[in-house]
Amino acid sequence: MNAVKIGLCGLGTVGSGTVNVLQRNLQVINARAGCSIEIAQVGARRDNPACDLGDIPVTRDIFDVAKNPEIDILVELIGGTTVARDLMLCAIENGKHVVTANKALIAEHGNEIFAAAKEKGVTVAFEASVAGGIPIIKAIREGLSANRIQWLAGIINGTGNFILTEMRDKGRAFEDVLTEAQQKGYAEADPTFDVEGIDAAHKLVILASLAFGIPLQFDKVFTEGISQLETQDVAYAQQLGYQIKHLGIARRNNGGIELRVHPTLIPRKRLIANVDGVMNAVLVKGDAVGPTLYYGPGAGAEPTASAVIADIVDLARTLTADPEHRVPHLGFQPESLNDFEVLPI
Ligand code: HSE
Repeated sequence: MNAVKIGLCGLGTVGSGTVNVLQRNLQVINARAGCSIEIAQVGARRDNPACDLGDIPVTRDIFDVAKNPEIDILVELIGGTTVARDLMLCAIENGKHVVTANKALIAEHGNEIFAAAKEKGVTVAFEASVAGGIPIIKAIREGLSANRIQWLAGIINGTGNFILTEMRDKGRAFEDVLTEAQQKGYAEADPTFDVEGIDAAHKLVILASLAFGIPLQFDKVFTEGISQLETQDVAYAQQLGYQIKHLGIARRNNGGIELRVHPTLIPRKRLIANVDGVMNAVLVKGDAVGPTLYYGPGAGAEPTASAVIADIVDLARTLTADPEHRVPHLGFQPESLNDFEVLPI
């Protein structure tokens, strides 16, 4: 297979970011994928001036994309759990692989979606659904595959962490910072999901399913958000030598798995207490490797696009006939290496 054709549904913050990064870095992305990746069709209710689609065909009916026989991979970036679920099941039914950033959909309907994908022999990839640009899914599934995971804990909502940081450092009011998070494209369409811990619970369920090999069980998470916190709480915690961080925690406990998201007091000298702004961080403790920490931007157009495209590249590698690209070395073609000179130190 020389070209992998993708159909991209949704042109919001992440959709437009994905178009922009794909266009800007296409040469290196193609080299790493071992084939050429082409956006063959976009499905979106309206255009977004944040990206230039050039002559990519656009349809207003996203189901056209799911049924388009030309398309190998449908990239679902419309969000929500109703139309998005139908779209994804339709794409799977039509034999498409799917890439998604939709944590709510995976957390709430993932068991059904993965069963449908298995039946059809297609892949559903969801790296972008947790912790934005941090490749945490690949880290757990691939990098830590030798380990029995004992626990994981992380700051997995960028909006919430941004709000807590601004309240602490600048004494800003909760609502004011939330408005800024919305303007920056960090917050969910319904920001209640961010501030009431629902988004973090979605992500925790996905991480726990991967880490412990359990079904997705969103209804089992103890969920508390940050909406009841006041600027004073954050300031008092600071005076006492702590930071308030909103954590998602999953751990083995008495033969079961404990799943909870809530604000936590963390001693200031801990690394994770110093993860500020929109940054996320996830600690994962494996029995062989010990504690590991993953850090990076947890929300925003291009960090999330980075994870979406990583899944597209992964899928493209498995679709390509070229075995050398299935487990790539550098992914560059030899001639492109000539563009770089190793500088003497
Ligand atoms: N609203 C989410 C957050 C977006 O702030 O973390 C990334 O999943």
